[in-house]
Amino acid sequence: MSKNTIMDYDTVALDDAKSALVIIDQTKLPYSTEILELTDLKEIWDAIYLLQVRGAPAIGVAAAIGIYLEAKKIGAVESEFDGFYEKFKKAKEYLDSARPTAVNLSWALNRMEQVVLANKSKSVAEIVKCLHAEAVEIREEDIRVCRAIGEHGLTLIKDGDGILTHCNAGKLAAVKYGTATAPIYVGQEKGFSFKVFADETRPLLQGARLTAFELQESGIDVTLICDNMSNMVMRNGWVNAIFVGCDRVAANGDVANKIGTSIVATVAKRYNIPFYVCAPTATIDMATPTGNEITIEQRKPEEVTEMWYEKRMAPEGVKVYNPAFDVTDNDLITGIVTEFGIARPPYKESLKNIFAMKEKNR
Ligand code: MRU
Repeated sequence: MSKNTIMDYDTVALDDAKSALVIIDQTKLPYSTEILELTDLKEIWDAIYLLQVRGAPAIGVAAAIGIYLEAKKIGAVESEFDGFYEKFKKAKEYLDSARPTAVNLSWALNRMEQVVLANKSKSVAEIVKCLHAEAVEIREEDIRVCRAIGEHGLTLIKDGDGILTHCNAGKLAAVKYGTATAPIYVGQEKGFSFKVFADETRPLLQGARLTAFELQESGIDVTLICDNMSNMVMRNGWVNAIFVGCDRVAANGDVANKIGTSIVATVAKRYNIPFYVCAPTATIDMATPTGNEITIEQRKPEEVTEMWYEKRMAPEGVKVYNPAFDVTDNDLITGIVTEFGIARPPYKESLKNIFAMKEKNR
């Protein structure tokens, strides 16, 4: 199939014939669409760490495919379960260390480990087959989950609405639809049109490089703004709702997402604009009680001082604080849109209900 836009490429996929994890190198977008075929565990770790593949759901899918590929290699030399499992666990821990905040990474890896343990009585070759099936399912599930988030999210907005989003929680952060963009894409399929404002998202510009790009390529009306302009567009009355993604939702509804999300939520509250977090249940971590317990990734100072500039834009030696994520307190969040419906405050109860629904649907 000839590929016309970025929407025709897979963000993250498994190539069985090549035994490779296939990703779009997101550090190169929007200027060039470079496809990477990764076969080595270290390459896959680097791709996650360097944000070549990024966004919580995409990281989870990449990790599932990555650990399957490694298990296949281990299985070729270890036919006894104990030796296989020991090496599998080491590889799993290694991949899990690539980034700390998005819970999807450990969620997907734990799910893969459960497959190993549940099939302990089978041969290693059969276990590897089961891991293949699970990795494929995790990827397919992401499409269904994001679609369902889109359907639920669409009930919160109407044709013509202005929507603001932060970072990239789009197709490029998942397999298809994205999370925060899912209501927009599902709405588009149904003939709705929206006016979307994309925060550029300092310092790594996921909003400018990725969200503005994929929405524009999809024919959606998108306006790029600097992060410090969101108050202006909200005060102007141009925004009816805010949709953002998340990297980890705590049991009390506090949400870790890209740095700057909490500023958007605070300003939205000032202007009574509903602030929705789109969260697959894979991103909800009931084992983390509140946002205070979420580990926030700290990244290199150069991302703030020189990256994207022709010349360094800050004095040599200046101290830099560069957290990749922040925590939005639950009282700023109007609703958390999951594949099982919309959780509303108080989140301690509503998130439990969402998981009860998930259990029932198993
Ligand atoms: O550092 P990134 O680009 O991986 O951060 C991504 C985000 O913060 C997204 O909003 C989040 O992962 C949700 S993606 C559906």
